[in-house]
Amino acid sequence: MTASTDATDPRTANAAARDAVADRLIGGSLRRSYNSLIDVDWDASQDPRLFYMPPQTISLYGTPLWESMSHLERVELSRQELANMLSRAVWFENTLNQGLLRAMLYQDPTSRTVQYALTEIGDETRHMIMFSRVITAIGALPYRLSTLEAMTVQSFPFFYRGLFLWVAALCGEEVIDDAQRNYARHPDLQPIVAQIMRIHVTEEARHIRYAREGVRRRVQHAPWWERQFAATANGAAGFVLRRLMYDRRVYERCGLDAGEAMRQARANEQVNARRREAFEGLHGFLSENGLMNPVSRLLWRRFGFL
Ligand SMILES: [Fe+2]
Ligand SMILES: [Fe+2]
Repeated sequence: MTASTDATDPRTANAAARDAVADRLIGGSLRRSYNSLIDVDWDASQDPRLFYMPPQTISLYGTPLWESMSHLERVELSRQELANMLSRAVWFENTLNQGLLRAMLYQDPTSRTVQYALTEIGDETRHMIMFSRVITAIGALPYRLSTLEAMTVQSFPFFYRGLFLWVAALCGEEVIDDAQRNYARHPDLQPIVAQIMRIHVTEEARHIRYAREGVRRRVQHAPWWERQFAATANGAAGFVLRRLMYDRRVYERCGLDAGEAMRQARANEQVNARRREAFEGLHGFLSENGLMNPVSRLLWRRFGFL
């Protein structure tokens, strides 16, 4: 870490502690970062019988519709759901990068914390390239946002300020991270999927540490309204995440009755139980930091995460 020798340096002990965390994360990034353009075997053959997602995480797993499908139809559903998830990951990371870049305008550009934020943005832009390449490599088409959805998503970074920037990052990263750890461990997935998930889980672990540190630090000094906003607004992430998990177009592309598939998927208790498990870690962390309140709890419960 570069310590300033300027006695008039206005940085506080708080900023120094923040820089120490950023410094460790920069060290971790130097030791273990990936460039999917080089580190993924894009030309490896894909076995048409292997799943693209662990079957247990597929929205229709175990439903009557699932039971009526052939193995190859189930594999196709996993391919479409993966393409859908990666398409959504691209725009989520886009909004997060916007939030980080905006926050930086108010920060000391020579601080290690800003340098780590830039490192994270670099990770995320590589992830966005990786995800888009995977969609092409598995022979799928992306799931694009409608104009209305794009306008809605474009408003997200406006709310990513102060404490809520870190809380919003965690809502996206931690819940998805839990699922991706399953992917990386699963023995019978398409090799290309296991490879990209390992890369993503490794790099996201640093992002999650950075965001958790951001929450712990900021929560101590944030005014009550900022804490209240973060504690209430995080419930909206339950709505967004839930919306993201089901997309009629996935079922249409698989030639299924989309209305019936949506109905069975939403009622699928096995997948709903996995979702509640995926939220446990984040729920504990937010509660410890006083960032759950009756409104957010109600929303997370309403959308099936509690
Ligand atoms: Fe990422
Ligand atoms: Fe990330």
